[in-house]
Amino acid sequence: MTFEPEVRERLERDAKQIIGRYPKPRSALLPLLHLVQSEEGHVSQDGIEFCAEQLGITPAQVTGVSTFYTQYKHEPVGEFHVGVCINTLCAVMGGDQIWNELTEHTGVGHDEATADGKVSLERIECNAACDFAPVMMVNWEFFDNMTPEKAKRLVDDLRSGKQVLPSRGPDRLCSWKDASRVLAGFPDGRAHEGVQAGPESLRGLELAKQRGWQAPSSDTGKAAPDEPVQPREITDPPPNEPGKPIGGDVKPGSQEGRNQ
Ligand code: FES
Repeated sequence: MTFEPEVRERLERDAKQIIGRYPKPRSALLPLLHLVQSEEGHVSQDGIEFCAEQLGITPAQVTGVSTFYTQYKHEPVGEFHVGVCINTLCAVMGGDQIWNELTEHTGVGHDEATADGKVSLERIECNAACDFAPVMMVNWEFFDNMTPEKAKRLVDDLRSGKQVLPSRGPDRLCSWKDASRVLAGFPDGRAHEGVQAGPESLRGLELAKQRGWQAPSSDTGKAAPDEPVQPREITDPPPNEPGKPIGGDVKPGSQEGRNQ
């Protein structure tokens, strides 16, 4: 292990606290990965080994998880990690154009950082903020209704050290490492700052109130569903293609011949 003794001691103290929140130690893996990322800015081999050791699992298991989720970085990213949503709605609303112009403007591509280490870029999938498309994120804070010009100005401001405000959320941006620490489960006490849900997100609620619409009643009180259907009870297998039953002598209820 190459963590300095005092760093390791601090990480162990924090890890113990995180692990104590879960019934089984291995359930703490995701926040623990954020914890080591908050130390180094990415998940290094040392970080992987630290997590494995704390949780009693193998480094291979930690690696499998950390390489599955794109929030964990395996190379250093910038102090400000900038995501451009290129999922369907944002893409057609200008996200693709923003991405193209921003990569040209900064000279870096997906998961790459500028030479000054200030900014890195990532193509990201839907952020559940489609009502503000196209959106960008900086260290997971929202920047709504973006344009290529606004995007380039944002990145220039971040690189020059100018204070920028997210469209919603806290009143200032924290660093990538600080954001990782919050995700590890150590709140910075700023979750309730600034604009929370924007007017676009609340429009449906307003309309519902004006028109007296209500959510359908829950299932509470309804009879419990019947027992699951047993294979022997299926007499008419579902069709494999429209209008065509699963062919041959396939027994009812068998999964033979289906995509599995
Ligand atoms: S598609 Fe970009 S936030 Fe949903």
